[in-house]
Amino acid sequence: MPNTTDHYRDLFIGLEIKVPLLDGAQRTYINLDNAASTPPFKAVQKSVNDFLIYYSSVHRGTGFKSLLSTHAYEQARAIVLDFVSADPEVHTCIFGKNTTEAINKLARRFPFSANKDIVLTSGMEHHSNDLPWRSVAKTVHVGLTREGYLDEADFDAKLAHYSERIALVSVTGASNVTGYLTSIHRLAEKAHATGAMIMVDGAQLAPHRKLEMGSPDDPGHLDFVSISAHKLYAPFGTGALIGRREIFEQGDPDMVGGGTVEIVTLDEVTWTDPPEREEAGSPNTVGAIALAAALVELKRIGMDNVASHEARLTAQALSRLAGVKGVKIYGSKDPIRAAERLGVIPLQLEGISHFLAAAILGYEFGIGVRSGCFCAHPYILHLLNVSPEAAGIVRRDMLAGDKTHMPGLIRASFGLYNTPEEVDAFVEALERISRGDYRGVYQQDKASGEYRPVGWEPHFGEYFSLIGEQTC
Ligand SMILES: Cc1ncc(COP(=O)(O)O)c(C=O)c1O
Repeated sequence: MPNTTDHYRDLFIGLEIKVPLLDGAQRTYINLDNAASTPPFKAVQKSVNDFLIYYSSVHRGTGFKSLLSTHAYEQARAIVLDFVSADPEVHTCIFGKNTTEAINKLARRFPFSANKDIVLTSGMEHHSNDLPWRSVAKTVHVGLTREGYLDEADFDAKLAHYSERIALVSVTGASNVTGYLTSIHRLAEKAHATGAMIMVDGAQLAPHRKLEMGSPDDPGHLDFVSISAHKLYAPFGTGALIGRREIFEQGDPDMVGGGTVEIVTLDEVTWTDPPEREEAGSPNTVGAIALAAALVELKRIGMDNVASHEARLTAQALSRLAGVKGVKIYGSKDPIRAAERLGVIPLQLEGISHFLAAAILGYEFGIGVRSGCFCAHPYILHLLNVSPEAAGIVRRDMLAGDKTHMPGLIRASFGLYNTPEEVDAFVEALERISRGDYRGVYQQDKASGEYRPVGWEPHFGEYFSLIGEQTC
């Protein structure tokens, strides 16, 4: 496969779309919010279109379309298992909505006990890999270094301190804020040596690096991983929890109903085997097929090619941003070490609210980024070095409906299809914003903290409408 940006761009739909700007111009949209969601691969669109004419019920239907749909759904499951190098003898793939649902399921299904009652997670997690544990186990957070890396000395100390009480280590494979990669296989080895299992939140890692569960005989193997299709160029509402089948053979499913049972009487229920036991109700067959099509495409491209393309963009962005007055990058800033992290760059512009800078990027430059705390409040407060007192004041204001002073960052995150020209456009836009060179007058909404330009709003109906109306 030719390793060129043009070639990669040709694999996606929607990249040429022009969007309206505040000055009346139209500009080809630049999406630098890939850590949130990614545009679809053409291969995903094609597989979904090819499949839809056959779409029918799965599992219990007897007609040809049902048989084909069941075959495709199970093929998708096999492709997911293969993508993360799972062992089908040991692991199962449970489809669900996304990583959040996957982790919540594991939290509800993991067999904690009175003397194995701790989940060791970290202070850099997305809320989806933190909050689900808090309600089912004693949740202990590994500390962070000043630069925001997981503090492995603290990990070792907590592992030694709580020792066999730790049932599960649950860490992210890569941060959605700083792009830092976690040494998951090294942590796995240590977790296993203490008698714990390990779950890796693969929402950020899987789209950008090879994610391998490893042989269950290898001490560094992973017991559970989660992925989200909408971050993997397949936005059709699916995610997957891949993990040890034996865990889901015990106890009752967390959600019950159609598809989860072998036999039901008015008094008794016999559950069927995983994964069906864990997928109550009719599944999102189209979503599973879309996800699998994306994984086939990523495998064809090669995750090493994905990683090196994104590392080049990250190095370019870090080098250029270092020269922009007023830009402060959080986390690692070293372009030479760009390959050691994902292309996720959190930053601030001196003297300008993250909410405002993100709004100007969108309204005046056609560049989509994200601002705020990225569902990782504790991590952002750590990176910004916000004192507990200051955090308390902000929390009080937020609870009173005022987010105007909410701390936060701007985040640019790259995907496989982004180009060096887009990185340049982003840096140049930041340069202009930071010297006050923008035209709009913006008003902040107190409840959300977001800024909107006074006297201008986009006419979405000209671009897309569900009711066929093109003018409003
Ligand atoms: C590291 C990480 N974990 C979990 C999630 C939650 O993913 P989803 O919204 O697909 O459930 C995200 C989403 O941004 C994430 O970045």
